[in-house]
Amino acid sequence: MPRRLLPRTASLQTRFALQAVLSTVGLFVIVMILVLYVQRRALLSSVEASGLEIAKIFAFSSVPAVANGDYLMLQHVVDGIASEPRALYAMILLPSGEVFVHSTARERGHVYRDPLSVRAAAADRAIVQHYVRDDGIPVFDFAVPVFVLTERRATARVGLSIEREMAGITRTGLSIVFLGLAALTFSLVWAAYQSRKLTRPVEALVKGTREIVRGNLDHRLPVRSADEIGQLAEAFNKMVTELAAARHDLITKTRMAAMGEISARVAHETRNPLGALTNCLHLLRRGKPIAQEDAELIEIMEAEVQRLNTMVSDFLAFGRPRPPRADRVDLREVLTRVLGLLERDLAVSPGIHIESSVDPAATIVWADAAQLQQVLWNLLLNAAQAMGETGKIRVTTSRRDDMVEVAIADDGPGIAPDALAKIFDPFFTTRSTGSGLGLAIVKRIVDDHGGSIRVDSKPGAGTTVFVSLCGER
Ligand SMILES: Nc1ncnc2c1ncn2[C@@H]1O[C@H](COP(=O)(O)OP(=O)(O)OP(=O)(O)O)[C@@H](O)[C@H]1O
Ligand SMILES: [Mg+2]
Repeated sequence: MPRRLLPRTASLQTRFALQAVLSTVGLFVIVMILVLYVQRRALLSSVEASGLEIAKIFAFSSVPAVANGDYLMLQHVVDGIASEPRALYAMILLPSGEVFVHSTARERGHVYRDPLSVRAAAADRAIVQHYVRDDGIPVFDFAVPVFVLTERRATARVGLSIEREMAGITRTGLSIVFLGLAALTFSLVWAAYQSRKLTRPVEALVKGTREIVRGNLDHRLPVRSADEIGQLAEAFNKMVTELAAARHDLITKTRMAAMGEISARVAHETRNPLGALTNCLHLLRRGKPIAQEDAELIEIMEAEVQRLNTMVSDFLAFGRPRPPRADRVDLREVLTRVLGLLERDLAVSPGIHIESSVDPAATIVWADAAQLQQVLWNLLLNAAQAMGETGKIRVTTSRRDDMVEVAIADDGPGIAPDALAKIFDPFFTTRSTGSGLGLAIVKRIVDDHGGSIRVDSKPGAGTTVFVSLCGER
């Protein structure tokens, strides 16, 4: 099985940095080898070419002296060649390997038997040999045969030091290594920085996912760019928002169902004793004459029984909602009916004025007329109760695509932000005589109609409730 370079748990940042470093090092090694190779070839071949040139001139100028056996003349030529700055030696070798003339006088007469000299003495064309002297100096050894007419009489041999060139190559190598190390350090820092930049949003995503798993649906990712990572963060946030909404919806529905069940049971059990009480009060009134004081008590009891009856109806409407029987309903008719009822309702002060202006293009809605009436009644009653003695309520309608929006605006005290979040919760009320079911019922009816409801309110600036329902196509 292939071994992994990094453990499975290595972070993205480590992987990214390792990739960057490995590729930099790889690239650098290839460049270094290439540069050194090219430089070495260029330098050595130029030394070789110039060395050969010198050796050929040496051989050519030696021909007359060799032909005449003119030792002095040859010594002159040899010394002249050996004076070249890089020349280590110059000599004329006889085919037997014997040194005929040498730039170092004492070498004269020696017979060289080392392989290099043997090859040089036997060379019948120009040759170049490379070796390193005992003192470590690298040498190019050139040997060119000296022909007198067609007879090979001797070999002109010259040794050039290539120490300077080799030192240059080493220097270049060192500079490249130094540059490479600098580049590597830079690439390490750069890779760390870039990988940090790239992996930070991914880490945030991982952290965000963990938060979600832990149940924190309020967590959102910062969207810092428009690239793939930014899009991912946006998609993530959208998903979490939808998830939070779905969870909230589910919790609300479950809670509503449970509360509805209890409400319906309580209402059902309360209904019979209430009926009995109403009958008894009726009988009391019809019987023997009642003193003024008792009559007042009976009136209070009747009012309270009436209040309880309304509450029982609310409990039932909330707990056992009836599916809407949608039909073509004229909003103006329903409004007229509700306004008429409100005018007669004792809970609504005569100081409250209700204005309504219905847009002719937004009069017909698809709804259950009785349920729509209950929605408008609850909303208008809330507005009237919130304002107390005096105030103005405006009912307007408008058309938005296929929907008709009914807006009920009052100039009452408004709703505090923390209460605003709870007004649709069953049993949430700020009124001492309220059941807190009015808006819960409204919301349920509107939802059942496939519509929507929203409330715009600020303390001291009045309240507007918008109900949107399907209009006529
Ligand atoms: N137009 C409004 N202006 C100010 N506050 C409002 C308005 N409408 C509703 N509220 C607030 O929302 C709360 C809940 O209203 P909801 O109709 O559900 O219950 P309620 O009116 O208190 O009782 P119920 O309607 O059952 O008699 C109210 O108690 C009130 O605090
Ligand atoms: Mg109400």
